[in-house]
Amino acid sequence: MRTQVGIVGSGPSGLLLSQLLHLQGVETVILERRSRAYVEGRVRAGVLEQGTVDLLNEAAVGERMRREGLVHHGIHISLDGRLHRIDFQALVGSAVTVYGQTEVTKDLIEARLATGAEIVFEVDNVTVHGFDGARPKIRFGQDGRRRELACDFIAGCDGSHGVCRQSVPQAALTTHERVYPFAWLGMLVEAPPVADELIYAWHERGFALFSMRSPTRSRLYIQCTPDEHLDEWLDDRVFDELRLRLGGQTAERLQTGRCLEKGITPMRSFVAEPMRFGRLFLAGDAAHIVPPTGAKGLNLAVADVRVLARALAAFYTSGRSDLLDAYSATCLRRVWKAQRFSWWMTSLLHRFPGRNPYDDRVQRAEIEYVVGSRAAQQALAENYVGLPFEETG
Ligand code: APR
Ligand code: PHB
Repeated sequence: MRTQVGIVGSGPSGLLLSQLLHLQGVETVILERRSRAYVEGRVRAGVLEQGTVDLLNEAAVGERMRREGLVHHGIHISLDGRLHRIDFQALVGSAVTVYGQTEVTKDLIEARLATGAEIVFEVDNVTVHGFDGARPKIRFGQDGRRRELACDFIAGCDGSHGVCRQSVPQAALTTHERVYPFAWLGMLVEAPPVADELIYAWHERGFALFSMRSPTRSRLYIQCTPDEHLDEWLDDRVFDELRLRLGGQTAERLQTGRCLEKGITPMRSFVAEPMRFGRLFLAGDAAHIVPPTGAKGLNLAVADVRVLARALAAFYTSGRSDLLDAYSATCLRRVWKAQRFSWWMTSLLHRFPGRNPYDDRVQRAEIEYVVGSRAAQQALAENYVGLPFEETG
């Protein structure tokens, strides 16, 4: 088997890369260890920056997103049960679109398969070889047989626990990590949203986030401990806790409904540098993780893929390798800004167990400053809607 770019992983990174390269006439094969149903059923984040929306449109996969996505011109920050609006439109003239990553993934898979593209689901024991030379190979198991995919480049789009990053010699890689002493318990419910925009709530019992997927589906999160047991969180307990943390009129209006999914997400910041080794390129969660508070994970993955697709297309159409050489540094400039913002939003809004009371007072002062200062709100808004893409090439 042979292709131009061998892609490991069919999350948003791998799928979007495949789609953008297809539009430039570059051939790809995607190898995915899970089934199509599993990949399409995973519940993940849901906020798209305008740049992400633009790129999905450019990739010809924006039709359903334009119809079903909810355009939000701001968010609310809740403190002591009072809502403070951050007006993106007035502050930075932009907006975000609420549209589940699950839906983005479904749209991309459908678009790829419609062109006859090869996505090989349920492969096992993927290994990557020869990327320090000119002839990389990916070996994998399929239906009990061992197969080999020869390619010009390998794209490691296999998420944080994937095989690609782990295959890079340790000495060639620097990793940076921060683990937070809390997690999020998330619940997707069949209930209309309590507000027309997201609510990020600070509370002394811990952070809470009210989000949504559609006019009939809400997505709820509450801060919990990383070792929490899901079976101790029956639906009613989650609703009660959310009501306490949201407070005020929002709590009174909160509607309950059938739970469609519930899970616990640990909170971690992680970056591996550089993002390229010879002919192996890492993109998305394979190279970096952010805590979800700033809604940056998916957007950052999309930004990597935008740079990688343009660089690979330039290589195939005009033999240029300068954009491939610049890939890692170009991506990492954005990655570190998103790391900073995600760390900041997380630190601003969560309770840190066992922390010095002085630090708690400073945290409160910072929230009061943010909700009271146009300058501070503008900085938040500018990052939340997404910093401008760097122009390359
Ligand atoms: N072999 C083949 N496929 C693999 C392997 C492997 N060894 N390891 C992981 N995968 C697959 C996973 O099953 C998954 O489908 O790689 C894919 C990685 O997808 P994601 O984890 O979704 O990562 P990415 O595509 O970079 O998406 C970016 O944005 O909102 C955030 O973290 C969230 O998933 C999200 C990310
Ligand atoms: C979500 O809707 O899943 C969501 C929204 C905003 C975040 C994180 C997750 O910051």
